[in-house]
Amino acid sequence: MSVPAFGLGTFRLQGQVVIDSVSTALDLGYRVIDTAQIYENEADVGQAIAASGISREELFITSKIWVANFAKDRLIDSLKESLQKLQTDYLDLTLIHWPSPENQVPVEEFMGALLEAKRLGLTRQIGVSNFTLDLMKQAIAAVGAENIATNQIELHPYLQNRKVDEFARSQGIHITSYMTLAYGEVLKDPLIQQIAEHLQATPAQVTLAWAMQSGYAVIPSSTKRANLQSNLAATALTLSDADMALIATLDRGHRLTSPKGIAPDWD
Ligand SMILES: NC(=O)c1ccc[n+]([C@@H]2O[C@H](COP(=O)([O-])OP(=O)(O)OC[C@H]3O[C@@H](n4cnc5c(N)ncnc54)[C@H](OP(=O)(O)O)[C@@H]3O)[C@@H](O)[C@H]2O)c1
Repeated sequence: MSVPAFGLGTFRLQGQVVIDSVSTALDLGYRVIDTAQIYENEADVGQAIAASGISREELFITSKIWVANFAKDRLIDSLKESLQKLQTDYLDLTLIHWPSPENQVPVEEFMGALLEAKRLGLTRQIGVSNFTLDLMKQAIAAVGAENIATNQIELHPYLQNRKVDEFARSQGIHITSYMTLAYGEVLKDPLIQQIAEHLQATPAQVTLAWAMQSGYAVIPSSTKRANLQSNLAATALTLSDADMALIATLDRGHRLTSPKGIAPDWD
């Protein structure tokens, strides 16, 4: 079991926009889709998947449990609602979306409920998202590192999150990079543009290839067929050690996502 290196993100996209994005991506060969309860697009994503006619075994579907559904008498029911919307019997990966605000629900309670969901066959793998080192340690204490497939975190050239990465690696927990393109910001970076020009690739391809070559899974989102297509082609791009080392120098702790009242004390 592992987390596929490349997939499609769906944050902010709803209705016909997300239906079109997912349909186009599946048509282009994407087989991995990342959604979340809070995106309020699970039913649209489910509709696009059903219309594609692609068999369930070929797909890898991830969703994330919202913080309001963490209590042990709520988590599994909420996951069942997600499955219904997504028109499937199981998820490939279910994540805790953010840590519980002010620790309202203890880590061991929601991780225990998530592990129970896995035992019931509602999800093949489980994991966390936006977890700091301390929270990862608590999650490991609750269910064991072997039961945590990934920690999905904001990670891009401007926020390389090395502490979390090193600890996750030491525990055999895969890192999934979200906002790998820094929502488009890093595409304007002169160094990334220069490497892209040299390789006759796009800045997005260079950034995605850098992340995958660093060992992270990526889930870029796009509403445009051309971008979806060229992003997928990043899986065939290899960067030199020198280019990897140059991109490593771009780290500047530039975090884009830190919702008030929900974000933990970052490392
Ligand atoms: N766990 C969490 O808390 C969390 C938080 C944030 C995101 N996520 C997940 O991570 C996914 C990715 O993050 P994101 O969607 O916020 O940001 P992103 O993938 O870094 O960037 C998406 C933006 O980049 C543009 N883009 C994509 N490909 C491009 C290309 N080849 N050239 C130029 N522009 C391009 C898209 O515009 P166009 O539509 O115009 O192409 C869109 O505006 C999300 O969709 C979601 O599934 C998870």
